Formats: sequence, structure tokens, C-alpha cells
Amino acid sequence: MAEHSIISLRSISKSYDVGKMHQTVLDNITLDFKKRTITTIFGPNGSGKTTLLNIIAGILKYDSGTMTFSNSSTPLNIGFAFQDYYSTILPWYRAIDNISLPLRIRGIGENERNDKVKALLRRFDVELPLSKYPYQLSGGQNQMISTFRAILTKPDLLVMDEPTKSFDYNMKLRFTENLLQFLSDNKMTTIIVSHDIDESIFLSDRIVVLSNIPSRILEVIHINLLKSKEYKDILDDTDFRRIKETLIRLSSGY
Ligand SMILES: Nc1ncnc2c1ncn2[C@@H]1O[C@H](COP(=O)(O)OP(=O)(O)OP(=O)(O)O)[C@@H](O)[C@H]1O
Ligand SMILES: [Mg+2]
Repeated sequence: MAEHSIISLRSISKSYDVGKMHQTVLDNITLDFKKRTITTIFGPNGSGKTTLLNIIAGILKYDSGTMTFSNSSTPLNIGFAFQDYYSTILPWYRAIDNISLPLRIRGIGENERNDKVKALLRRFDVELPLSKYPYQLSGGQNQMISTFRAILTKPDLLVMDEPTKSFDYNMKLRFTENLLQFLSDNKMTTIIVSHDIDESIFLSDRIVVLSNIPSRILEVIHINLLKSKEYKDILDDTDFRRIKETLIRLSSGY
């Protein structure tokens, strides 16, 4: 295990069997996730990104290879925002109760739960009709429930699968800028799947590019942009443009 890593993957492979068809999805993936870093996983549809996140979160078994956690004596506290966020939202709970679910599970009382949710949304400069039920909310608002629920408890490891895909442009910018500061303030380690190149470069310390299946790591791009607080400040940066060109080139030839 590399020094300061929170998770080490060594030659992880995973296949699915459907009827007589055997499909290798992940082919010998070796990666280390260092503490307090932000990694984006980037790759084509069906390349195994969600599969990889599910393996890391312990939801899915892998076929071969090893996965080691740095603090094996205590279970890692993981926050997970699922790609299919609707299926994780409880229809009989109001927005506020859905976001605060991890606190309820820990036995925290309603007033404290509600205060924590409101403080988090204030910090991200987000207004959400908290007393509405999921069916009374828009798609983007439902995704906010799922995304903020993953962040709320400031987990050791935050895993988010396309957490902003239903956000409007401005919401996405505000969220991304605030997230960067929030992750750094709370010393969190983060793995994000995203198809948004600009967002990925702005947020990440590195971007791992996967190929089509059987998926291998095509390239790991380390990003040393001066971490700006504002997204608009980096758009003309030479390094930003260079990395963007690389990602566009890689995605046209997966
Ligand atoms: N439970 C399953 N059984 C069989 N095949 C599966 C299963 N889950 C995923 N697959 C297949 O594995 C491959 C990878 O799926 P995965 O959901 O990990 O891709 P992804 O990279 O997250 O794609 P996207 O960008 O579209 O979300 C796909 O070809 C998919 O059809
Ligand atoms: Mg996916």
C-alpha cells in the first residue's frame, strides 16, 4: 500500500455473466487513492465507472485482485451519492428528512438533524423547499437531496457518481466552487465520476481516464492548477486548456 493512501486497488478485475454471455468489465485496475485528494473517474458510457465505485464502497464483489484500506481496524465512514439517485430517496420522507437520514440512523434528534441540514445548504448557498416530499420536487432538486445527503456527515471517503448531472448550469458552478472549499476544510478524500470535463479539471487533483470495456486505465492526468476559488478564473488558464484538449482527444478515441 502506497504511503498516505486511504485505499489501494491492485489488479482488480470484474466480469458479469448474463445468460451465456461473459463480459469482462474491469481489467486489472491498479490505483491508489491518497488521503485528502479529489480523484475524478472519466470514461465512456458502460466502461465500468459505477462498477468500480460500487466495488470501492463494498456494495459489489470483485473477481480477483486486492483492495486494501488504510485504517483496517476501524471501518471507513463512506458517503455515497448514487448515479440512480431516485432509487435511494424515500418517497414518504420530506426533503429535509431524506437529507438527514444518515443522522437519524445514528440516533440524532430531529432539531439537531434539521439544523445540520440547514447549515449545510446555507454553506452551499442553496435553497431547497425542505418540507416538500420527493414527488413534489423537480429532478434536479431530488438529486440535491442525494448529493447533500452524501456530504452531510463529512465522511472520510466521499464517493459520488455524477452528482451534479441534473443541476442547472449556475447551480453546478456554485456547488462545485463550494464543494472544493468544503472538502479541503473537512480534510475529506473524494472520488467522483463525471462526464463534465470543465468541472472535472476544476475540482480534481487527478483524472483517471478509463477505456472502453474490458476497461483499463488509459491515462492518469495530474492537475496542478492553482486552486482558484472561482471557476471563471481558470477558464483561460493555459494548463486548463491543455488538459481539456487532452481529455477531448482521449474521449474521441476511447
Ligand atoms: N448487474 C449487471 N449485470 C450485467 N452487466 C452489468 C451489470 N451492471 C453493469 N453491467 C454492464 O457492465 C458495464 C459497465 O457498467 P457501469 O454501470 O459500471 O458503466 P459506467 O461506466 O458507469 O457507465 P455510465 O457512464 O453509462 O454510467 C456495462 O456494459 C453494463 O452493461
Ligand atoms: Mg455509471
